[in-house]
Amino acid sequence: MAPLALCVIISALICILSEAYYEVKSLLTVSGRRLQYSPRRPAIDTGSSDTVNRVINGAPGHVAFIVDGNGRWAQANGLPRSDGHTKGANVTVEVVRSAFAAGVSTVTLYLFSTENWKRPPAEIANIFAVLDKYLVDFLSYLKENKIGLFVIGQPDRLPESTRELIAHVQKHTQPTADKKLCLAISYGGRADIVQAAQALAVRAQKGNLSPEDITEGTLERALSTGRLGLPNPDLVIRTSGEFRLSNFLLWQCAYAEFKILPCMWPEMTAVALREALVDYSSRQRRFGGVES
Ligand code: IPE
Ligand code: IPE
Ligand code: MG
Repeated sequence: MAPLALCVIISALICILSEAYYEVKSLLTVSGRRLQYSPRRPAIDTGSSDTVNRVINGAPGHVAFIVDGNGRWAQANGLPRSDGHTKGANVTVEVVRSAFAAGVSTVTLYLFSTENWKRPPAEIANIFAVLDKYLVDFLSYLKENKIGLFVIGQPDRLPESTRELIAHVQKHTQPTADKKLCLAISYGGRADIVQAAQALAVRAQKGNLSPEDITEGTLERALSTGRLGLPNPDLVIRTSGEFRLSNFLLWQCAYAEFKILPCMWPEMTAVALREALVDYSSRQRRFGGVES
């Protein structure tokens, strides 16, 4: 055989063996944390243009975002906090699109907490003005992609314009939905548990519920998420590097996985999201059991 042909065959064999080596390594990573290693290249290319919209194997069903750091991002860039909320809203649209494109079926965004009413009235008014604008802009995307809009929190405390827009978007998106986008607005995990307890107490007072009927299931179904048929989050992603829940879905996060990202929300990217989803796909969730 000519030396040139021999060289070509040997090079091809080296390529095939090295591809197979990396594939096996990737599989080991996905099979469990104990087998994790530091790959010389990621198991999934999270960034190139042809992979950014591809479904991720083992993506979580429900991802909940604690949207944080808008104000600090603005201050760090010499801008008013209101610019942070506007930039944050632009990023939110991108992140939501990427999450659904990756195969996530429910996305929750924590946008305004029961405690955020403590902020200056001008900032609150700005936050709701930004929200109103994005609700209008988002409608066609939600309709086209069969994503229903759901809201948890205290609707009575929201500005009338926001309530009307929410009702409008819900009417046009819920009937055909096979995926869900949930906005937590004026939401507090403690308030949610309190309203669920009150709803059960009313049923008990009417003689429709006995103490032994109050189980984890009945309480869960009485929570705002349970009433809307929303699953508990599989993965919670918080930006701004803070390791806390800030009163978000306290009951529902009992077995959620967490990913804390150091970037501020306006710096969040589709690539960072895909890395978080790939990281989630390699985690072992035991729910108190043992590794199988
Ligand atoms: C998140 O950003 C948006 C809301 C909570 C409304 P922040 O406004 O909390 O920004 P930081 O955390 O002060 O930087
Ligand atoms: C968490 O952000 C609440 C929302 C994202 C809506 P905050 O900025 O209110 O949380 P803390 O004050 O840092 O805990
Ligand atoms: Mg904050």
